[in-house]
Amino acid sequence: MSDIRTRGAGGSPLRGRAVIPGDKSISHRALLLGALAGGTARVSNFLPAGDCRASRRVAAALGADVEVLSPTELRIGGRGLALREPDDVLDCGRSGTTMRLLAGMLAGQPFAVVLSGDAQLRRRPMARVVEPLRLMGATILGRDGGRLPPLTVQGGALRGIDYRLPVASAQVKSALLLAGLYARGPTTLHVPGPARDHTERMLSAMGAEVEAWPEPAPGRGGQGLRITPAASLAPLDLTIPGDFSSAAFLLVAATLVPGSEVVLEGVGVNPTRTGLLDLLRAMGAQIDVLDEGSAGGEPIADLRVRAAELAGVEAGGDLVVRAIDELPVLAVAATQAHGETLVRDAAELRVKETDRVATTVQELRRLGAAIEARPDGFLVHGPARLRGVAVEGHGDHRLAMALVVAGLVAEGETQVRGCEWIADSFPGFEALLAGLGGRIGP
Ligand code: S3P
Repeated sequence: MSDIRTRGAGGSPLRGRAVIPGDKSISHRALLLGALAGGTARVSNFLPAGDCRASRRVAAALGADVEVLSPTELRIGGRGLALREPDDVLDCGRSGTTMRLLAGMLAGQPFAVVLSGDAQLRRRPMARVVEPLRLMGATILGRDGGRLPPLTVQGGALRGIDYRLPVASAQVKSALLLAGLYARGPTTLHVPGPARDHTERMLSAMGAEVEAWPEPAPGRGGQGLRITPAASLAPLDLTIPGDFSSAAFLLVAATLVPGSEVVLEGVGVNPTRTGLLDLLRAMGAQIDVLDEGSAGGEPIADLRVRAAELAGVEAGGDLVVRAIDELPVLAVAATQAHGETLVRDAAELRVKETDRVATTVQELRRLGAAIEARPDGFLVHGPARLRGVAVEGHGDHRLAMALVVAGLVAEGETQVRGCEWIADSFPGFEALLAGLGGRIGP
């Protein structure tokens, strides 16, 4: 078990420039879609994190020729749309993205595969992919009638469906788009919110026919999507942008620690991911988007952030979908903001790596925050004087990092337990924060 200790309040400001590691969502897709390509692709700025290693293992087990040129550079020899039958259970580790996207990729293969993972992943809901894949014609078995892993996917002939997703989930959308590559007839999806669109971008760049259009959804901007079955996918060389979801912790840290000024380089600013940027700015944060460009078919920029006083904000609807992974660290920002911050429409938080409503509320309260759980989010009254104590990361990388950020503004010493899981998404987090002047260590 590894801990991170921080000393906060009155500490030194964060200053300097940092390069943010590659995007986790896009790294998964580079490997999994790369496995389906009819040729070899070179991927740079790959994220060498625990979750992405799970995708690398399964891509290799399904017949892709994955060569690791350096921790962040891969050469992926695709197997083509017809994957190889693996000779063992596919271990998805702790990665929900790997398991859900794989379920879609395997639904059209003429063999059976068992998908499993560690205890945390085996608690995560799978009906959201299993039910529509069954409608397409796949046979999927799993614990509790297919609601929980392990899953056995017996692929076969698929038919295109017209399907309304019950949740605005990029993983579900991606699984169904991937299955749609193999179906008879087009697959049409109606997504109730602006879920991240990396799969659509990548599939289009690889030559698949994917059409997207805006659609109204209750209280939100929805998305319509149609994929036409494909005969092959072209390999795609890619430089993966920095992960906005990792940059998020530094955006909040530099906003909260007085006197800070930090530039984060090469960060992906795909609008389906940057809800936190909009929320922080609405709260009064000083964040500039500089040097906008593109990498791997995705918009990127440098983000300059300076310390600022914050006011509370109300977050719901589209903004919550576009900030879903950043809500624990938004809660930390809200503890220091003047007034109330209300997060609603975020029931999905309860089925992430942990129940992030419950764990965020429990641990921030230990530090002295005034935060209450709601069925679909939380309410924070700020500003609160946080006091350093021992808190628990609950095996959840984003919760642990959010608590480290809270520790930078709490009085005295904060000990965040269980920080080894930060490597699921942000290897080098502690060193990067310390390099910017964060008061970390014994
Ligand atoms: C992801 C989609 C989101 C997000 C997760 C990564 C992806 O999950 O929370 O961290 O890479 O597609 P949902 O699809 O469940 O919303």
